[in-house]
Amino acid sequence: MKEKIQQLLDAENKIKLGGGEERIAKQHKSGKLTARERINLLFDEGSFVELDKFVEHRCTNFGMEEVKAPADGVVTGYGTVNGRLVFAFAQDFTVLGGSLGEMHAAKICKVQDMALKMGAPIVGFNDSGGARIQEGVDALSGYGRIFYRNTIASGVIPQISVIMGPSAGGAVYSPALTDFIFMVENTSRMFITGPQVIKSVTGQEVSQEELGGASTHNKVSGVAHFMDKTEEESIERIKLLLSFLPSNNLEDGPVFETEDNINRLEEGLNEIVPVNPNKPYDMKEVIRLIADNGYFFEVQEYYAQNIITGFIRLNGKPVGVVANQPRVLAGCLDINASDKAGRFIRTCDAFNIPLLNLVDVPGFLPGTEQEYGGIIRHGAKMLYAYSEATVPKVTLIVRKAYGGAYLAMCSKDLGADQVFAWPNAEIAVMGPDGAANIIFKKDIENSDNPIETRQEKINEYRNTIASPYIAAQRGFVDDVLVPSTTRPRLISAFEMLESKRESRPAKKHGNIPL
Ligand code: HXC
Repeated sequence: MKEKIQQLLDAENKIKLGGGEERIAKQHKSGKLTARERINLLFDEGSFVELDKFVEHRCTNFGMEEVKAPADGVVTGYGTVNGRLVFAFAQDFTVLGGSLGEMHAAKICKVQDMALKMGAPIVGFNDSGGARIQEGVDALSGYGRIFYRNTIASGVIPQISVIMGPSAGGAVYSPALTDFIFMVENTSRMFITGPQVIKSVTGQEVSQEELGGASTHNKVSGVAHFMDKTEEESIERIKLLLSFLPSNNLEDGPVFETEDNINRLEEGLNEIVPVNPNKPYDMKEVIRLIADNGYFFEVQEYYAQNIITGFIRLNGKPVGVVANQPRVLAGCLDINASDKAGRFIRTCDAFNIPLLNLVDVPGFLPGTEQEYGGIIRHGAKMLYAYSEATVPKVTLIVRKAYGGAYLAMCSKDLGADQVFAWPNAEIAVMGPDGAANIIFKKDIENSDNPIETRQEKINEYRNTIASPYIAAQRGFVDDVLVPSTTRPRLISAFEMLESKRESRPAKKHGNIPL
């Protein structure tokens, strides 16, 4: 027996070394951790249990029968993160470049199935040369099986993808099907076709980083949600994200006791909105002043910055925030903002996270670029996502709420359970400037002093129509708040809404405009 135990321990130690010392050194030299180091950083100390470590590939093409691939290039298993069950897989680049073959895929599918059955989040570390070329269609089929499971698990358990190396070709579609994508500066890459293919097909020259690096996918394409300087920082951020998410769609998000006063009055909120309605301010400051301990966990910080998405806690409970940012494009909604917000709203709704909508929106961004790009189709996603969402929805109109954008930011009519407005709020079909030009056109044209008359008419319009009280008289706004009282009122509203139950007609699934 002693001998057998020693054989087992030796085999395990060999597997733990992955592709061997030399390749591990190469991995470290390129600024990357190994699969097992990443796993160890994610899980509570000593809690990770590896599954399927003895799995080996069965390929005999191109001399593969001679090739040993410890754990078939992917570490899979489960453990706890801050005491909660989480499943994970981490591709091991030191073993055949982390390439995905039949058995590698089978291991990933097994943890996907287990995570779904157990109702626990799954984190996937991607660091791979893609489909294992020697395995041909078996490798392609492996990807197909993973994509299928990603889709089936969507909206049931949180799925988090971490890109910590290459993720190329069709392989990118597994992360793309998950809820959140993390990337690391200078080492993560995602693209469908690499620089060489692009050059041969289009003649265009582009570096790997420029094409599919963390910055590109966080700022330009909107494919990724988070960007960090190091892998360690990225893994810490994954743990923070998990602290806002329930383990599955049947649970509520984790609750933490807060030391912050739930009745805190915040005088700063009375001053934060400039008197001049055209002057910007930082909506993130409003969010921080409302949140428990001023903590805001932003999602897609660098993409479509005219809209802000992220999580706060109110009385210790997670709340998803969607807010216009007057500092960028005056807070207008455009194609990218609609996509970003629509997706975030659906993520919150899928995982029972109530929504807080902070509105300061002058409208949809005008222009041919937006119209040709399909702002109608993209903007509709926000209307759809808010209408479809059955979680508690609370809307606060901080300043402007004009036209279709007033509706798109979750007005009463789209099912907001509570709508509040600050006393300076302007709710109207369009901004006073545009409105005055249309309805007072003749008065302005016939006036001896058109500039003065126009200004008078703008003021008249603002004072009569663009105020929160007309909407409040009709019940579209439930209450007009002294801004400093916002935090206690929001906490009270979300507490009242905690038992909210709302159902929709039975259907196979809706048909969101994609
Ligand atoms: C088999 C692979 C591999 C692959 C890398 N390796 N990719 N083996 N299949 N796809 C092996 C290499 O042969 C090498 O083995 C080891 O992994 C490390 O690779 P290097 O090239 O030495 O590393 P590096 O210089 O860092 O370059 C990494 C790389 C490059 C950029 C990822 O390896 C590369 O271009 N690989 C091919 C990428 C690709 O085209 N994949 C197919 C994508 S299409 P040794 O033994 O020499 O150390 C795809 C379709 C999916 O994935 C479709 C799903 C629907």
